[in-house]
Amino acid sequence: MNIRLSAELPPEPQFDPSFRRAPDRGYNLSRTETVIAVKNALRYVPPELHETLAPEFLNELKTRGRIYGYRYRPQGRIYAKPVDEYKGNTLAGRALQVMIDNNLDFAIALYPYELVTYGEGGQVFQNWMQYRLVKKYLEVMTDHQTLVIQSGHPLGLFPAQLDQPRVINTNTLMVGMFDDDENFRKAAAMGVANYGQMTAGGWMYIGPQGIVHGTTITLLNAGRLFLGVSPSDDLHGKTFVTSGLGGMSGAQAKAVEIAGGVGVIAEVDLSRIVQRQEQGWLSKWSDDLSQVISWMQESVRSGEAVSIGYHGNIVDLWEYIVENDIPVDLASDQTSCHAVYDGGYTPQGTTFEEGRELLKKDRDEFVRRVDASLRRQFTLIKTMTERGTRFWDYGNSFMKAVFDAGVKEIASNGRDTSEGFIFPSYVEDIMGPLNFDYGYGPFRWVCLSGKHDDLLATDHAAMECIDPTRRHQDRDNYEWIKNADRNGLVVGSQARILYADAGLRVKIAHRFNELVREGAIGPVLIGRDHHDTGSADSPFRETADIYDGSRIMADMSAHNFAGNAARGMSLVVMSNGGGVGIGKSIHAGFGLVLDGSERVDGIIEDALTWDVMGGVARRAWGRNTNAISTAAEWNVTHANVGQITIPHVPEDGLVEDLVDKELS
Ligand SMILES: NC(=O)c1ccc[n+]([C@@H]2O[C@H](COP(=O)([O-])OP(=O)(O)OC[C@H]3O[C@@H](n4cnc5c(N)ncnc54)[C@H](O)[C@@H]3O)[C@@H](O)[C@H]2O)c1
Repeated sequence: MNIRLSAELPPEPQFDPSFRRAPDRGYNLSRTETVIAVKNALRYVPPELHETLAPEFLNELKTRGRIYGYRYRPQGRIYAKPVDEYKGNTLAGRALQVMIDNNLDFAIALYPYELVTYGEGGQVFQNWMQYRLVKKYLEVMTDHQTLVIQSGHPLGLFPAQLDQPRVINTNTLMVGMFDDDENFRKAAAMGVANYGQMTAGGWMYIGPQGIVHGTTITLLNAGRLFLGVSPSDDLHGKTFVTSGLGGMSGAQAKAVEIAGGVGVIAEVDLSRIVQRQEQGWLSKWSDDLSQVISWMQESVRSGEAVSIGYHGNIVDLWEYIVENDIPVDLASDQTSCHAVYDGGYTPQGTTFEEGRELLKKDRDEFVRRVDASLRRQFTLIKTMTERGTRFWDYGNSFMKAVFDAGVKEIASNGRDTSEGFIFPSYVEDIMGPLNFDYGYGPFRWVCLSGKHDDLLATDHAAMECIDPTRRHQDRDNYEWIKNADRNGLVVGSQARILYADAGLRVKIAHRFNELVREGAIGPVLIGRDHHDTGSADSPFRETADIYDGSRIMADMSAHNFAGNAARGMSLVVMSNGGGVGIGKSIHAGFGLVLDGSERVDGIIEDALTWDVMGGVARRAWGRNTNAISTAAEWNVTHANVGQITIPHVPEDGLVEDLVDKELS
């Protein structure tokens, strides 16, 4: 075996100007670090190319802040092809190439040339040399080997058993005292750290559809919780104002229409508005605020489901709404506040293009403007909440960014973030108690044949597995899957998302594996977002609703990762940062190839159950009421296979009264 990049120099890179490019990430390495960075990149290429490539890599570092090795990007379009068209000794090796290529598709990736799939900085690999080398390894890998990937770098193939993972992948797991933005930026510039978001570096992105279901559920439940909408009704006549039509945030437009409501979404980057409209996810748009608001009000009156784009800054939209006293029911924000000073947020008074320019030329001024804009946005949102709008943080670190911009008032205790914020995170009020505590989470699958008919067959099979009368979540799921094809959600691979709980995931996976065995469909890869019940330790998001003090711990995600590896998932991933930023979360993911075998049936049963119930168990121990009842129920239905430790919860007031008495 001799797996290496060829000594042939790939042709000069070509860039199609119609695709977005990542901003210059800023070059600020010392001489010594610069030398190391260039040498690090040269490790991938044979020595005969070093003289040619060293200056090219140095130039990339100085002008883009990172070494991407553009020349190594295969020319033309990269996209998920049918699995049979990939080379490989194993189905898993070929399936994972489908997933990687899907993440880099021009139609999907945010900055395809910089290997960014979504979320401003979420990269599949650090550079194109890693891409090429990983593909070579996946092609030769056997069922008795594991490929080890560290921040995009393929460390090598190592001997393993059939029932062990084919790929173990980690992204930017930094040592505690260095686990911050500054050290990450340096490590990324030096080519040793990859920010993988959740499913970019985790190779499980399925286009913006992945977030549409979660966003639809969030909106529907927000309507039920805050506006008294009946569980069987939709959001007709209800307004939702937010921002962002990017990789994930673009889902808001589609979701508000599916939920039946009236959405107004501000977006500074025209190209994203156009893309979403061409995709059919955004009904209409304008850069005229009075036009936007008059469309909104007409649709409220008629009850029409609509998504309206405002080409401009979210702060300007809020200014208009506040000044003109326009009522708004629900509100959020999905600008990339996890990377607020790196181009994720465009400050008020600056166009998208001016913001990019300013970031490059005068970072300090850019930061000053971002802070001022966030402070203004907070004031306006606060005014609206006082008038009755329900605002929630949508997992983009908006509230943390506002706090960092100097608004102490956004912290619950007015001092620091240790006790959370004055507005709820969507996990605290909605996603946590109504979904994660029961084990409902973003289960997904990809039909590896690339055939739409296979996807329809799996939709149908999944629908047959759901009992819509069990809980309102199941009814939502049933409706979702029934209408999924009609909603035209596929971008890229033939994939589907469904917020299923443990039992449903196991049932569906068994059914799919059976269909594969019978030859009714081609092989399927199942997986999920890392934004799930048991896989993300993230105090500002997924674990924001755990109040026993443990939300600063990362034990759960470590066990999720280890447990899934031990139980034979085909791919296991563990990463830092996710949607909230470096040092703010640790999260894990998996992929399992359904090849129709009985061996895989066993993995489905044990691994999928563990994957979800490990999280329910932790949430139950955190005294979350719905998780306690879910765990207790599981203890009865699964008494022959396991048991979850259930906490004893003292009566309300018992400890509080004691502590107050003793401490007074
Ligand atoms: N809620 C969730 O489940 C979830 C899931 C994934 C990601 N996220 C987080 O949501 C955020 C958005 O993710 P994404 O993938 O869409 O990122 P993205 O960068 O692709 O999109 C954000 C969009 O906001 C726009 N924008 C920035 N500042 C603006 C402003 N002031 N006014 C109007 N528009 C502005 C940008 O032009 C961009 O198109 C990220 O922080 C991400 O981590 C949340």
